[in-house]
Amino acid sequence: MKKNKFSKNWIIKQKRDIYVKKSKLEGYRSRAVYKLEEINNKFNLIKNNTLVIDLGAAPGSWSQFISRNFNNSKIISIDLKDIEPIKNLVHIKGDFTDEKHKKNIKNYFGKKVDLIISDMAVNTTGNKSVDALVTGELCIDAMNFAVELLNKNGSFISKLFMGSSFNEIVALGKKSFLDVDIFKPPSSRKDSKENFIICRNLR
Ligand SMILES: C[S@@+](CC[C@H](N)C(=O)[O-])C[C@H]1O[C@@H](n2cnc3c(N)ncnc32)[C@H](O)[C@@H]1O
Repeated sequence: MKKNKFSKNWIIKQKRDIYVKKSKLEGYRSRAVYKLEEINNKFNLIKNNTLVIDLGAAPGSWSQFISRNFNNSKIISIDLKDIEPIKNLVHIKGDFTDEKHKKNIKNYFGKKVDLIISDMAVNTTGNKSVDALVTGELCIDAMNFAVELLNKNGSFISKLFMGSSFNEIVALGKKSFLDVDIFKPPSSRKDSKENFIICRNLR
């Protein structure tokens, strides 16, 4: 009963949402694309000829954005779900936390990369503290991976939720990167605890 009410409210919200309408008009698979666009407008991280790893990529709007707007960018993505093909993208269907997949991603370019983006989030349980904690663990895992695989001037962008692990994640970021910012893009829903951590320039 509670779940039905939640789904109904979600559908109403989606119908009214200007970003949902805009994404449909522009042929993007998700309104999430505008979060990456707004992050990039502020921090100017994505360039032409960029090697990118997209973690938690489905349905694929972040990869679409990079593939469309940045010439000669090459992307490898992973998600628990499959995604429809995108130009210059190779996709792995699987769990990022599985070491076997991490190894395959590392081997794909065979060298360090410029940008690692993670929009990974677990299915919401309805308990915001639990959701923040589990998604925080994915963020930490992705950050450790980024520290290993990024070029010295590379950048890491990840979703994280305000919650008990927030300060720990920011501290971890500051340990490995010279520049760490927290940004909530205007298109991120106001009632969500979602934020993004933007880490640049490895120490
Ligand atoms: C908010 S969606 C990503 C939207 C995407 N950035 C886009 O623009 O289309 C979060 C994704 O994280 C994925 N995810 C969650 N846990 C994961 C894991 N352990 N490994 C890989 N993907 C995961 C989910 O399957 C889901 O598709």
